[in-house]
Amino acid sequence: MALYSEKVMDHFRNPRNVGMIEDADGIGEVGNARCGDIMKIYLKIDDEIVTDVKFETFGCGSAIASSSMATEMIKGRSVAEALELTNQAVTEALDGLPSHKVHCSVLAEQAVRAAVQDYYERHRS
Ligand code: FES
Repeated sequence: MALYSEKVMDHFRNPRNVGMIEDADGIGEVGNARCGDIMKIYLKIDDEIVTDVKFETFGCGSAIASSSMATEMIKGRSVAEALELTNQAVTEALDGLPSHKVHCSVLAEQAVRAAVQDYYERHRS
C-alpha cells in the first residue's frame, strides 16, 4: 500500500487556497519545534462566516496537504464551526496519514484555532 493516499498527494501537488490575505480579520501562525515546520492561516470573516481563507506553510508535504484540506473544510462555514475543526477530521478527509505524520494535521487544527482566536481578540468590544 502506498504511504500516502491519493488525496494527500493531490492536495500536496495542487494545494488549494495558497497565499495570504492582506486585510485578514484573523491570522494564526503555529509551528512544531521538533520538525521546524511553520503554518500560517489567514481568515476573512463576514457576519461570523469564513468567506475566504488562505494559508502559507513552510513544511512537509503532509503539512501542506493538511493545510489545504483544512482551508477547504472551513471555507463558507461559521467561525464556531471552524473552531471545532479537529486534526482527526482533517486526517479522515485526507483518507489518512502515516502515524509519524499525524502531527502535521495537528498543526492545521492549531493554526485555524489561532486564527479564530486572533479574530476574536481583534473584535472584542
Ligand atoms: Fe512536521 Fe510535517 S513533518 S509538520
